[in-house]
Amino acid sequence: MYYYSQFTRWSLALCLLLLMIGYVIGENVATNRNDVGSHHHHQGHSTTPHMDHSVQVFFTPKDLKLGNIIPIFFRGRNPSSSSPHFLPREEAKLIPFSPSKLPYLLKLFGFSQASSQAKAMEDTLRQCIIVKPILGENKFCATSLESMLDFVHKIFGPTTKFKALSTKKSEKFGSNNLQNYTIVDAPRQILAPKMVACHTMPYPYVVYYCHFQERESKVFQVSLRGEDNYIVQAVAVCHMDTSHWSPDHVSFRVLGVKLGSPVCHFFPEEHLVWVPIISNTPTHNSLGRVSSM
Ligand SMILES: *[C@@H]1O[C@H](CO)[C@@H](O)[C@H](O)[C@H]1NC(C)=O
Repeated sequence: MYYYSQFTRWSLALCLLLLMIGYVIGENVATNRNDVGSHHHHQGHSTTPHMDHSVQVFFTPKDLKLGNIIPIFFRGRNPSSSSPHFLPREEAKLIPFSPSKLPYLLKLFGFSQASSQAKAMEDTLRQCIIVKPILGENKFCATSLESMLDFVHKIFGPTTKFKALSTKKSEKFGSNNLQNYTIVDAPRQILAPKMVACHTMPYPYVVYYCHFQERESKVFQVSLRGEDNYIVQAVAVCHMDTSHWSPDHVSFRVLGVKLGSPVCHFFPEEHLVWVPIISNTPTHNSLGRVSSM
């Protein structure tokens, strides 16, 4: 009865919503599953020996040298769909965001229980709501731009201005997303006493998994040239102390390094790294989108 009355109340607003996002996003839900975001959950990693190409985003600080070649998988945007958009907060608030509401949500978005979209939504809700942050981590899943900005504000303090950095490519990533990339410019470190990383999650509307870790992190902008000759202005983060991560974290296997060693990774397009704007620091380049805060 609860579901039914909610459904009738929202059905008008959601009709429009469903028209907008419909099955196109359903496809996104299915294809975004191997997102780098999921590598941030330091608990319960599968121990299967099979290595998905999408884990090829890790490197160590000493790899970050001009002329170095690093194999990287950059997950592309889905070329068949337009970039997903945030829901306005008022709209997002009307849709429950809870694992216990999954059956209702599947009906709402028209996905069968056995579909890959259903599995993806379940995973996202679990990562967002059930999985606890690790020690010294503050995490939040944002279902609207407003709530993401609120979280970043809370972490940086109310008077700090901040901006978002993201990976940019001159062309849309093609299908050959795993390539050897050459570092073609000296990597620039972005001085940031704190950073909040936000990863897109597979869901019928835009959901970002944002987190802040107290341990030291370094943010870099790195110019890379792929074998296809396209230049990628990539954003990377190095976690300097991983001693609190799960020993099963996929990066240790990929890099062959020990628990505690520094681990760096590139960010796919659409993921965001929020950093405070520090005065007297020259703005680095067009990568930084200065927020209006
Ligand atoms: C990158 O280059 C190395 C060395 O030439 C090669 O073994 C490897 O297969 C290449 N990787 C990709 C993804 O092309």
